[in-house]
Formats: sequence, C-alpha cells, structure tokens
Amino acid sequence: MSRLAGVDLAPIFDSRGRPTLEATVVLSSGATGTAGAPSGASTGRHEARAFPADGVPGAIRVFRERLRPRLLGADAELAAVDGTLREVDPSPDLSAIGGNTATAISVATALALADEGHRPLWRLLARPGVDGTAFPAIVGNCLNGGRHAIGGPDIQEFLAVARGPRPERSVAAALRVHELVGEALRRRAPNAALGRGDEGGWVAAVGNVEAFGLLRDACDRARDELGDDVRPGVDLAASEFYRDGRYRYREQTVDSDGQVRFVAEMVDRFGLVYVEDPLDQEAFAPFAELTRAVGAKATVVGDDIYVTDAGRLRRGIDERSSNAILVKVNQAGTLTSTLATVDLARAHGVATVASHRSGDLPEGWLAHVALACGAWGLKCGLLGGERVAKLNELLRLGRAAFAP
Ligand code: PGA
Ligand code: ZN
Repeated sequence: MSRLAGVDLAPIFDSRGRPTLEATVVLSSGATGTAGAPSGASTGRHEARAFPADGVPGAIRVFRERLRPRLLGADAELAAVDGTLREVDPSPDLSAIGGNTATAISVATALALADEGHRPLWRLLARPGVDGTAFPAIVGNCLNGGRHAIGGPDIQEFLAVARGPRPERSVAAALRVHELVGEALRRRAPNAALGRGDEGGWVAAVGNVEAFGLLRDACDRARDELGDDVRPGVDLAASEFYRDGRYRYREQTVDSDGQVRFVAEMVDRFGLVYVEDPLDQEAFAPFAELTRAVGAKATVVGDDIYVTDAGRLRRGIDERSSNAILVKVNQAGTLTSTLATVDLARAHGVATVASHRSGDLPEGWLAHVALACGAWGLKCGLLGGERVAKLNELLRLGRAAFAP
C-alpha cells in the first residue's frame, strides 16, 4: 500500500468571493488529488463548523501544527485518513480543525486514490449495489430568495426537478425551465432590474406564491416542449424565517400547524414534487406530519434538520420525519462520515440528494458523490461556473456509462 508523501492546505476563494480551503494530497506512488471545500450561508445549527474560531488562517495553523505531522507517512487509505482527522478533533462540530479542512483533505485523498487506481472517483466511493448507471434527478435552482438573494422572496429556492434515465436530457430540461422563468420575469416587469442570486437562480421582487406560479408554468411549458419529466420543487430553508414558534413571511405569519397546511397546499396547488426544509431544524414531529400528508406525492427532504449526521437521521427515521435527506460533505466533515449517513439512509429507504453549497467552487467531484451514493437527486444549481462544473461532470459520467 502506498503512503501519504505530501499533504498541503491552502487558502482559496469560493463563488461568493469568501475565503475557503483547498487540499492537495500526494501519494508515494506519485498519484495526486486536489479538492476545495464549499461554504454555506444558511447553515444548520448542528452542522460542522466550517473553520476554527479564527477562520482560514487558524485552520491552516492547526493543520500545520497538529494534522500534517500525523498525516505524513500514513497509509493511503480513506478510512485511515478520515479516522486521523477525527482523532485529532473528536468534537461533534469539528470546531478544532474545521469541517472545511476535513472535507478538503478527505476529498483530495479520495481523488488521489482514484488517480492511483486509474478509476473514476465514483467507483472508489460506490455503495453496495451501485453500478453507476442510475443517474440522479437534477434539482436546479431557478429563482433565489432568502439569504441567497437581496430583494427576492422569503423562500430560499424555487427549483426545477428534472427526472429521467439520461443526465444530458435532465440537465437540458432544468436549464430550459431556468430560461423560461427568466423570460416570464422580464415580461412581467419589462423595466425592472433582473439579477441572479448566489446559486445562479434569478432574483426579482416577487411574492412567494407568485413565484410558485411562475415556476409551475415554466415547468409545464418545458415538459410540453421537450417531453421530459420536469416539475417544480422548493427549498424553503424554513429555519431562516422561524422565530419564537412562528414562521414569519412578509405576507403572513403562521404557527407550526399553519406552516404544515400552507406547504401541503402549495404541493397540491402547484404540483411540487420536491420539498426541502419545510419546517424548522428541530421540528421532527411537524416534519413527520407533513410527510404523512404529502410524502406519497413529493420527496420531502431534510437538510438543516439532519445536517448529514447519522445520529440526527436515526431520529428522523424513528419519527418518520421525511422520506429523503440532503447530503453535504462539509456538514459531516469527512467522506467516511458522509457515506455512513448515506448507508443508514439507504438501509431505511430514505432517498438521498447530493448537494452543493451556496458558496461553491468550480469542481466536479460532487457529481461522483451523487452517482456513488445511488442518489435520487443531484442538487447543484444550474448557472455559474461552479454549478456548471458539476453538471458537466455528470454529463461526462453519463457518456461513460452509456458509451456504445
Ligand atoms: P447553504 O444553502 O449552502 O447556504 O447552507 C443551501 C441549502 O440550504 O440547501
Ligand atoms: Zn437546504
């Protein structure tokens, strides 16, 4: 077995222009891997801290003093490297080394091992029974609000969900919805400025319910034109506007029961097939109520409630809180802990959706994570180099899988 001959951690910038980290791992065989870690804006209370208290400089200092000496010369094995990261920082939120340090080193190690074995990353990470031919739905952001946009709706993400066996068709269908939503916004207010948010979706001064209507109409039209199954979805990121027991929209304030009713009504009225974080991050029981009401029609996804953590997912499984989980590597820290959560989900019939962060990097490894997990969906936005990098990598994987 080869060993870690070199490991480095360096500052880089994400798509919001904020500092984050990139790791490079060199194996004694000469194989190498480089990966960066993305960052969220609407982070969950229980997710790994991206950086130690003093940010990127602190992360690099801790890496040099405590991590690099332990990693150099270690066995080139993903579980061993991830185990070392956990040994150095056993805190549940990885606040000593930072979740982004862990993610960058873990993914760079996996890429180096894939390089060494002359195989694609997804094969190295593939869960039992996954053969790389079942491609995820594209969950693509068309209209941004909440913390990812200034002046948009309270709801964070209005999504196109494109399903089908061929990734190139799903990507094209989701992109068409994005384009049609833009055209509708221009028609609606021809002289108003129209911008794009952190994840490449449009930003416009529209209300929440109006936005659902625009999205539904665009999906209807794209389905008619292309014949592909593309339908509306939403990430409410509800923890962001939940305070003192109430969900506070600009147009209305509702309690938990009211929120469950409102979301169920939106699912029925607009044919939503995907509903992420409809309730607060501690609301396991109300989540279950909503899943009982709409779970047969829609994929109900927990993001901030689970934060890719097996313990929190276990509770969600026991309480039947949702039928799906969002998977973000830097919420968990390492690939090993991410995949443990994915395995728990798979064992209980909980669908997985591999996800980008709102501040991301022009790297494609997330597409491999999605394929390796047999994920129901890949949520990585539609526009901007950092989003397109993942979509294009999925297309490459599709070409490899369906090569004549
Ligand atoms: P974040 O948001 O990356 O800003 O946390 C993405 C999401 O909520 O899905
Ligand atoms: Zn989310």
